[in-house]
Amino acid sequence: MNVSTIYRYSYLFKQKKFLETISKHSLLRYVRTSEVVNHGEFEYQDPKSEEDVVNVTYIDKDGKSNAVRGKVGDNVLYLAHRHGIDMEGACEASLACTTCHVYVESSHLDLLPEADDKENDLLDMAPFLKENSRLGCQIILSKELDGIQLQLPKATRNFYVDGHKPKPH
Ligand code: FES
Repeated sequence: MNVSTIYRYSYLFKQKKFLETISKHSLLRYVRTSEVVNHGEFEYQDPKSEEDVVNVTYIDKDGKSNAVRGKVGDNVLYLAHRHGIDMEGACEASLACTTCHVYVESSHLDLLPEADDKENDLLDMAPFLKENSRLGCQIILSKELDGIQLQLPKATRNFYVDGHKPKPH
């Protein structure tokens, strides 16, 4: 919107003619109408097509397998929440805890982007650290990750947000 348009609308507004003058169409040009998606809401949407599906198997700390259908773009922390899998995620993916710690099975580990310094620093504080440890909230599904297996460690330590278990918004 240029300056002269702003002055014009400002003048019309003072004259109480603004709403009569401005058309719905021109108003919509300046008002953002895209849908707002909160943290974790995206993972509650089903895949739009089979090409979008990414199959994920979570193995809980008792060794029980849970196969779920994720989709491209899903964060595996929030996908776990959707399916009732006990991955805590106390800091809600803000890289301030290790409660989303998972072990990634070897055939998919190298397909993930390298962990950055912040993720590595946090992983150093995670109990039961292994070579294939990653933070689940930093894993975003792509089609090439189809078939990924993620095992939850025996325990995680919540050193940042005591007792907080995030719920979908
Ligand atoms: S949820 Fe806290 S670092 Fe992943």
